[in-house]
Amino acid sequence: MTNNNKGYFMNMAIMPVRRNLSFKLPKEKINDWNGNGLHFTQFLNTLSIFFPAGERFFIESVRNYRKELKDEELQEAVRAFIGQEGLHSREHIEYNEAMAASGMPLERYENRVKVLLKFIKKAAPRDQQLAITCALEHLTAILAKTLLEHDHVLKGSDERYKALWQWHALEETEHKGVAFDVFEKSVGKGPYAYTLRTSTFVIANIVFWSVVIPYHIGFVRKNKRATDIKGWLKCNKVLWGKKGALRAIIPEWFDYFRPGFHPWDDDNRHVLDYADVLVNKVEAFN
Ligand SMILES: [Fe+2]
Ligand SMILES: [Fe+2]
Repeated sequence: MTNNNKGYFMNMAIMPVRRNLSFKLPKEKINDWNGNGLHFTQFLNTLSIFFPAGERFFIESVRNYRKELKDEELQEAVRAFIGQEGLHSREHIEYNEAMAASGMPLERYENRVKVLLKFIKKAAPRDQQLAITCALEHLTAILAKTLLEHDHVLKGSDERYKALWQWHALEETEHKGVAFDVFEKSVGKGPYAYTLRTSTFVIANIVFWSVVIPYHIGFVRKNKRATDIKGWLKCNKVLWGKKGALRAIIPEWFDYFRPGFHPWDDDNRHVLDYADVLVNKVEAFN
């Protein structure tokens, strides 16, 4: 079994690395920074709403189990996971502030996400909370994969926004197995664990996309482009066309239902080779 030089061998996983980067985004471009136009920009901006509150939830759901983990390397991976998600939240808070400053209904939208997550934290037992994290981490990891592997998703975009999304996608890939490993160590791999993680994946996706779609439309409408059919078609092509970003990850989405699934069964660590180049690029921005 091969691995990186950090020697983290659990399921061929990688030890995540914290990269404390600051992107200093040009705020005036927030609504139309992506080379594929405003409608696709608003799709990615919609995803950004979920990160600060969502990643806090992920951190807490993993933290709930941290003290019980006996595997020292997994404990170290959890610490790195928490560090990475914390930094992602920080940068997306700044990103989302730019959205709010441009007149987008960010606070209203974000508050609904916060209320939902607060309710889950109160009502759901900790294994369900961890299953939600695993589900959304898988979704994030496959979205990250498609973003990193399909050049057209960020082609022609503002360099700073592009770098932020690449950085986030890269680290989501790097830590894609951590919550899952905690789940397997703590909840197990048996019929209960399988049923919990797969049923949660279905529910989490239904809830997530039924919030994303109206928010996306809401942002485009706020930009007075809701009736711009060409804009919608262009966005649709990026997501669902021949090399569409969402179309490409349908097999990975279904892979989550395979008994014995592990995020690193799809070993796409090659995307991490770009990390050093990206860090140098971002440091040169500042
Ligand atoms: Fe993240
Ligand atoms: Fe993550």
